[in-house]
Amino acid sequence: MGRYANLIGWLITLSLFLTLLNYPIKAVYRKWVSKMDKETSFRKGYLKVQQFLIKNHRWFAISATVFLIAHLILQIQYRWFSRTGALAAGLLILNIFLGAYGHYIRKKKKSAWLYLHRIVAVLVIAAIVLHIVSGGR
Ligand code: HEM
Ligand code: HEM
Repeated sequence: MGRYANLIGWLITLSLFLTLLNYPIKAVYRKWVSKMDKETSFRKGYLKVQQFLIKNHRWFAISATVFLIAHLILQIQYRWFSRTGALAAGLLILNIFLGAYGHYIRKKKKSAWLYLHRIVAVLVIAAIVLHIVSGGR
């Protein structure tokens, strides 16, 4: 069972990776792709992928949360309560609330919430790296 719990841990990481692609995909668009000829099929395809990732950003985050709940229950049952895991989970849940606030209340308008949302995203990554290199301690 412990092995499945670890596998689910990697599924949280994968969902979060898709969630976070939001940022680099836009950065690459602004810097390079937006300067390309509008008619190139590369630019059209790139925009389709970008739209897909932005539209589904919150669903990738929700799927990370679902895997997180499963991982947490299994690890506590078959392994131990992890402090670095709890830190990563706390930050992730905080960012869900921040994202939901920006999306539904602020209607996606850029303001302080987005800067906070980005900072917490970086902290989530750092906490997960710590969690994995410490072997889940
Ligand atoms: C964002 C949140 C989290 C992510 C992305 C995550 C990810 C992972 C991954 C990928 C592993 C496997 C590492 C490997 O294959 O060596 C792992 C192990 C582990 N996680 Fe998490 N985890 C998170 C939260 C938590 C929480 C909240 C707990 C608390 C119960 C927890 C408890 C553990 C434990 C005890 C292990 C080690 C199990 C073992 O090696 O037998 N994790 N985690
Ligand atoms: C663990 C969860 C999450 C992480 C790590 C995360 C991460 C990020 C990052 C790094 C950005 C910056 C992209 C940019 O600069 O344009 C962003 C933007 C944004 N996020 Fe999240 N996010 C999470 C959850 C959510 C949720 C649950 C929602 C909505 C319900 C949400 C809504 C938004 C919105 C509206 C933006 C503004 C730009 C856009 O529309 O794409 N986020 N997020």
